[in-house]
Amino acid sequence: MTQLLDADALDLTRVRDHVWTGLSRAVGDQASPMRTPVLATVDMNGAPQARTVVLRAVDAEGWRVFWYTDIRAPKVAHLRGDARASLAFHDPVERMQWRLSGRTCIRSGDANAAAAWAALSQVSRRNYRTQLPPGTAMPLPGDGIPVDAGEGETGRDRFAVIELVVGTVDWLWLHPGGHRRARFTRDAATWLTP
Ligand SMILES: Cc1cc2nc3c(=O)[nH]c(=O)nc-3n(C[C@H](O)[C@H](O)[C@H](O)COP(=O)(O)O)c2cc1C
Repeated sequence: MTQLLDADALDLTRVRDHVWTGLSRAVGDQASPMRTPVLATVDMNGAPQARTVVLRAVDAEGWRVFWYTDIRAPKVAHLRGDARASLAFHDPVERMQWRLSGRTCIRSGDANAAAAWAALSQVSRRNYRTQLPPGTAMPLPGDGIPVDAGEGETGRDRFAVIELVVGTVDWLWLHPGGHRRARFTRDAATWLTP
């Protein structure tokens, strides 16, 4: 669950720290709804595309967040065409939403990707072993992983870490005593009309 905030003692610094602490905690908390945000990208036709990803790492000091993907996935092509992205996080119990927007960097075949791959479980590594790229049509339902796909390092060449360098954080809390909203950049913060 998201860390509780005191509605009567809100200040902008406290809210900003709450978001970044909450993001860092969500990475290691399988039960947290903030661990699975919705990622929005812009496709080659300028159309919005949204899907769920797993938040894998947070650099609160550097205002960066990270998730993993298959380098062949359509979302990677979107980000190559337009590096802008937005991540929407929602805690339905707290009725809180965090929207992180910024520019992405695709890391594949570098030291960051190698370190993340090394720490990945065998179960998670299977996600990168489909024969055909994610989203390819199939005649029958299936996971797309060949029976002889192999183990160990198989899939490593398709594995990518996506880094979002956060430019703006939009925080919204639907509270019974009155909704609250704020926007943060690295060097500015303001309350907003909810
Ligand atoms: C709970 C959940 C977590 C997911 N996590 C990821 C993820 O971390 N990375 C990823 O590429 N896709 C993840 N997916 C799948 C994506 O939502 C999406 O369906 C898939 O990646 C294809 O997206 P694309 O065609 O826009 O590239 C997840 C889906 C669910 C339901």
